[in-house]
Amino acid sequence: MIVLVANESVTGESRVAATPETVKKMVEAGLEIRVEAGAGEAAYFSDAEFSEAGATVEPASTAGRQAADVLLKVGPLGELPDLGAEAALLKQGAVVIGFLDPFGHLETVSALAAGSVSALPVEFVPRITRAQSMDALSSQASIAGYKAVLLAAGRLPRYFPLLMTAAGTIRPARVVVMGAGVAGLQAIATARRLGALVEVSDIRPAVKEQIESLGGRFIELPDMETGEGAGGYAKEMGEDFLRRQREILTEHVAAANVVITTAAVPGKPAPRLMSADMVRRMRPGGVIVDIAAERGGNCELTRPDEEVVEAGVIILGPTNVAGSMPTDASAMYARNVLELLKEIVDEEGALHIDTDNDVVGPTLLTHGGEVVHQAVAGRLEEAKH
Ligand code: NAI
Repeated sequence: MIVLVANESVTGESRVAATPETVKKMVEAGLEIRVEAGAGEAAYFSDAEFSEAGATVEPASTAGRQAADVLLKVGPLGELPDLGAEAALLKQGAVVIGFLDPFGHLETVSALAAGSVSALPVEFVPRITRAQSMDALSSQASIAGYKAVLLAAGRLPRYFPLLMTAAGTIRPARVVVMGAGVAGLQAIATARRLGALVEVSDIRPAVKEQIESLGGRFIELPDMETGEGAGGYAKEMGEDFLRRQREILTEHVAAANVVITTAAVPGKPAPRLMSADMVRRMRPGGVIVDIAAERGGNCELTRPDEEVVEAGVIILGPTNVAGSMPTDASAMYARNVLELLKEIVDEEGALHIDTDNDVVGPTLLTHGGEVVHQAVAGRLEEAKH
């Protein structure tokens, strides 16, 4: 069984879906690993290291793609300069694993189904205990939360920690974190490690204890309905709720030096938690890092991958934040991918997709010539009308 590791550099992705460490493990499991030349370069894994780990390094080619039984990717399938549409290069019965962004790539989904490719978007790995080691959303979100705080600290014209020096006392920075999911919790932990005072807003009551155990202070939202939705995620709240939440957050934000926003609701645009007016209420020199930028942003003034300055406050809306730390992001993602791959390989090292498997079943997007993921199939139907 041939597993091909894609070179994503042409699409500007710095991460890679396998590392020498995971290649070694895949080789030990009896798989033949091929790596497209330069695949790990942007993440600082050399072709030589991949070869030493037991992979064959080859230039990206149509023949190479067509020979693959499994294609390991980071980003969605796109167009390659010399090879054309990546989805069309896969042979019948091949498997592709990656952040395939199905809702954003409906045409590709149809092409994968038409070509009888089995696609496993890592976004669809169920968040059950058994699948934690395969949870790429979590591993990458955790990096984003960490890096968001460092970006803020790098731009803040002040210290984060309390310092008592011969030149006087420096008061600790005040940080507000909005959204205490995987990214938010890592942001809280990182800001605390740097010595900041951290206040946190979320709408799921379950996170209050987690926030406090990390040394953060939970901002209570009195008289408000619970925001707990299905599967441990948040529900989409109405505009009235969000308006009241913004009112409560305004005073906390006005006293803050840094605001890190990570709030999201699956499948919906990011909730608007910071109005332009709230930004203007912050002190000049304040920094906002909005890592919900990819999903429309939590702050009204965020522009993806741009730096906006409003009334002396810097607003950063970085996208693919995990990709800015490609070595560890790849190391973690590659382990997630390896664990998922184990679910579709039998003891003899042959491909075996069991649709009854409690991880593989819900993750499968296309299989046997069909779009088997109900939500995506529904969206494709809507798009036809
Ligand atoms: P996410 O990226 O969808 O959302 C981030 C955070 O934003 C969530 O905590 C959500 O409650 C919050 N949020 C939404 N609307 C908000 C609003 N109006 N104001 C403030 N905050 C708002 O979530 P993520 O990080 O992907 O995971 C969320 C939860 O899923 C985890 O905390 C956990 O409970 C569960 N989970 C379970 C796993 C497992 O069991 N294997 C693995 C990962 C997550």
